[in-house]
Amino acid sequence: MAAIRIDPVTETDPARLPAELGFGKYFTDRMYSQRYSAQAGWHDASIGPYQPLVLDPAAQVFHNGQMIFDGTKAYRRADGGINLFRVEQNAERFNRSAERMGMPTVPVADHVAAIETLVGLEHRWVPHQPDAALYIRPVMIASEKALAIRAPQECLHYIILSPVAPYFAGGFAPVAVYVSHEYVRAVRGGTGEAKTPGNYAGSIKATEIAIAKGYQQVLWLDAVERRYVDEVGAMNIAFVYQDGRLRTPALSGAILHGVTRNSVLTLAQDLGIETSEERIDFLEVLADIASGRITEMFGMGTGAVIAPVGRLCYQDRDIVLNGGEPGPVARRLYDELTGIQFGRLPDRHGWTRQVRVGQGA
Ligand SMILES: Cc1ncc(COP(=O)(O)O)c(C=O)c1O
Repeated sequence: MAAIRIDPVTETDPARLPAELGFGKYFTDRMYSQRYSAQAGWHDASIGPYQPLVLDPAAQVFHNGQMIFDGTKAYRRADGGINLFRVEQNAERFNRSAERMGMPTVPVADHVAAIETLVGLEHRWVPHQPDAALYIRPVMIASEKALAIRAPQECLHYIILSPVAPYFAGGFAPVAVYVSHEYVRAVRGGTGEAKTPGNYAGSIKATEIAIAKGYQQVLWLDAVERRYVDEVGAMNIAFVYQDGRLRTPALSGAILHGVTRNSVLTLAQDLGIETSEERIDFLEVLADIASGRITEMFGMGTGAVIAPVGRLCYQDRDIVLNGGEPGPVARRLYDELTGIQFGRLPDRHGWTRQVRVGQGA
């Protein structure tokens, strides 16, 4: 495994952070980075001060948007330790995103060791307040100085950390989503499955429209027929039916393979809930909400955890779900998932690994 150089850093005090952390507003003292060149492969891995990057204005990232990222969290356990949750899945997804964008992959063991070492050194920044966590953001950018639309010969991989509250202020309070019929996010065969900024940049206009109308995120329909449910903002989506079944859109090629989605499907089965991954017709969803067949709808993501949907806007019609209240299935799954993440419940699937404080891995 590649050795990581540890450079000296002036430490600041996380106790000085405001009680309201928000999401992605504050960053820790250290960052990880390593460089890639086609000749030398990955090299120069180090953990040093969190600081601005120096990049050539002709770096490919600024012209081709060749950049990928991922997101996972470190959780403060009830016994004071620190858990990482299914971090290998994030490292593997990072590599799938890299491949899709013509970028080099990072050996999973090296990527996980980099995260563990960084979090181990920054252990004081893993919040103690309920539901807060240390968000981990790995990034890769094409840093080669070249106005050339091809695979980069040089890249930079870095990891930064941010103490965060859940993505939506209000924690488990239901969110309101706006169904976009004008704009689409991703098409099968495109880059929707990759965690690459272009997908997010292209979603901002519709998100701003949603926010201006009083909603928090956009529900995206498929880009071809504009009829089938894809996902919601930074979350996958699930529906709960009166007969107890849980349905979520299949991984069509246009949506992200969410780690939370995958975990929720497993936990639901553990709880005896029948699950299915299918193409879901949004017009049927509307009819099923109206008839009471759909009893709950919720988003799933690392940032948002499990976010019940209380209100939906489609073609200027406002539709309320479950009286605008969180439903019991979302609550059970939330309790189960966060119980494992924060070490309150037994980790029967071997999803967590504890971080060694100090030198990390
Ligand atoms: C577009 C999109 N869909 C779904 C998700 C949920 O994925 P995960 O559960 O791995 O965080 C995210 C967040 O990473 C996302 O950005």
